[in-house]
Amino acid sequence: MTNLKEALTILKQNGVVAMPTETVYGLAGSIDSEEAIKKIFSVKERPFFDPLIVHVSSIEMAKPLTKSWNNLHQKLADIFWPGPLTMVIDKSEQVSDLITSGLQQVGIRYPAHQIAIELITQFGAPLAAPSANKFTKTSPTSASHVYNEFQDEVYILDGGECEVGIESTVIGIFENEIKIYRPGMITSEEIRMALSEDFSHIEINFAQSPVAPGQMKHHYMPKKPVTLTTMPVEGKSSWIVPSDPTLAARQLYSKLRELDEKEGSEIFIILKEDFKNDERYSGVLNRLNKAKTTDLYFNGKDIY
Ligand code: TXA
Ligand code: MG
Repeated sequence: MTNLKEALTILKQNGVVAMPTETVYGLAGSIDSEEAIKKIFSVKERPFFDPLIVHVSSIEMAKPLTKSWNNLHQKLADIFWPGPLTMVIDKSEQVSDLITSGLQQVGIRYPAHQIAIELITQFGAPLAAPSANKFTKTSPTSASHVYNEFQDEVYILDGGECEVGIESTVIGIFENEIKIYRPGMITSEEIRMALSEDFSHIEINFAQSPVAPGQMKHHYMPKKPVTLTTMPVEGKSSWIVPSDPTLAARQLYSKLRELDEKEGSEIFIILKEDFKNDERYSGVLNRLNKAKTTDLYFNGKDIY
């Protein structure tokens, strides 16, 4: 269903709705409603220590959520928004501790999906939204994935299949450094290219997220065991990851779901050795590394 009016009514009544974005579907609620935010955590079965990101439909809407919006935030927003980049920035009073799990920073994103943009614009205020899946499970990239997860518990806006297919790149922004907490389709290379001369002093590094380190090791997990390998596997339920990184990301979650429903007791994911050396696969490799049960690919080395 794409009944925006119905979705807006639910949001105004402190409810939650599933909202399509270009990355994955989100489970959205008003940042000003404690009831809605609590509902997001309870429907998702998500622990309160894992903060939510806040979605806006303009740069102007993002600014008051932050303590001090600076030139670097502006530059990154100008280049990458709307799009799959979440910026973690010092928060203002407008964002509750419930949303940020007590952290003084908030993750903000301006999604590039017409339905999300219209929903937020018509609602007139930012929406908090994690991916619309149960905690630690595979993220949804279509309305039917969301339905399989929550059935009639959640009103779903159908926006078709998600173009990007994996969640946004999450970055922390500091005076002299950008930390990539979660890799995604926007790479460190692209961020580097986007920063003009004025920001040439900024280092860009992959870093452990400040959110409950260690507790998020297993994520994106299908029900069946997942083996990562470089070897072809005959007659088993397997997916050969496409060499085009955009396609690989777009297909990842629907393939994991499809293989989980098919016959066979195990899932095999077949990867090329040289994906490891190409940052454009970092988002896909990061998700697979957390979804796996058996690792014949990374050999214990977490590269992202
Ligand atoms: O593409 C996306 O980001 C999707 C769509 C729906 O926008 N959303 C999404 O939300 O993936 P979620 O909650 O599933 O993942 C958000 C990630 C979590 O790993 C969370 O720990 C991190 O962002 N995060 C949120 N706020 C943070 C903060 N203040 N500091 C550090 N990490 C934060
Ligand atoms: Mg998630």
